Amino acid sequence: MRKYIIAGNWKMNLTLEEGYGLASEIKWMVADEVNNNIEIVIIPSYIHLSGIQNLLKDSSIKLGAQNCHHKNSGAYTGEISPAALANIGIKYVIIGHSERRQYNGETNEILAEKINAAIENGLTPIYCFGETLWERENNLELTINECQVREGLFHLTEDQIKKVVLAYEPVWAIGTGKTATSAQAQQMHSFVRELLKEKYNKETAESISILYGGSMKPENAKELLSCPDIDGGLIGGAALESRSFVEIVKSV
Ligand code: PGA
Repeated sequence: MRKYIIAGNWKMNLTLEEGYGLASEIKWMVADEVNNNIEIVIIPSYIHLSGIQNLLKDSSIKLGAQNCHHKNSGAYTGEISPAALANIGIKYVIIGHSERRQYNGETNEILAEKINAAIENGLTPIYCFGETLWERENNLELTINECQVREGLFHLTEDQIKKVVLAYEPVWAIGTGKTATSAQAQQMHSFVRELLKEKYNKETAESISILYGGSMKPENAKELLSCPDIDGGLIGGAALESRSFVEIVKSV
């Protein structure tokens, strides 16, 4: 059975002290919520990772990184090694967030390499895909998302794809306050699950978690999370405040 995953992507926000404060609050507030059916993940900026890892030692909350390089080491100034992330006990890594695609020119091709590097190091990639507003207005959303999913992931074997979490993040919904309706999100999630079924098989497709991201907040989380193919959320803005993040956790 698929687990729900509620992951807070802090993006480039919070000082070290603010980050420690937020992580401590979340740890304390979700203590009673933790059960076998839900995985809570905090994805802060790199500078927080070690410290928060310490802070969460006795908690079941997991940590993720927002990106990684496709090589384990070398002369790549300013980059972060997937091997180094795995070495300090990080479990998840976001690959292909639309902000990385948009501002850092990350292509499906390079993302496929990052996916390989993450899996080789035992990290669970959270692979993001999603269409822009222009693409949706021109009825291209299925084509674009299919292309991002195929080119980023479909070189993987069945064993490997089972180690990946997907996240549908319509670009027009990220940080805009506009959320995809539960019908729009469910349609895309079931479309992608169908692609996984065609490429691999039913059992594999049913075992993979597909998260929704894009202005998820306490007011809309319950409806989105009750859709049959939505297995959790990748949350930006609402994850920067303990109360709203924990309310989303409680909506599962
Ligand atoms: P948002 O961000 O919740 O602020 O829209 C989601 C994301 O970018 O992962």
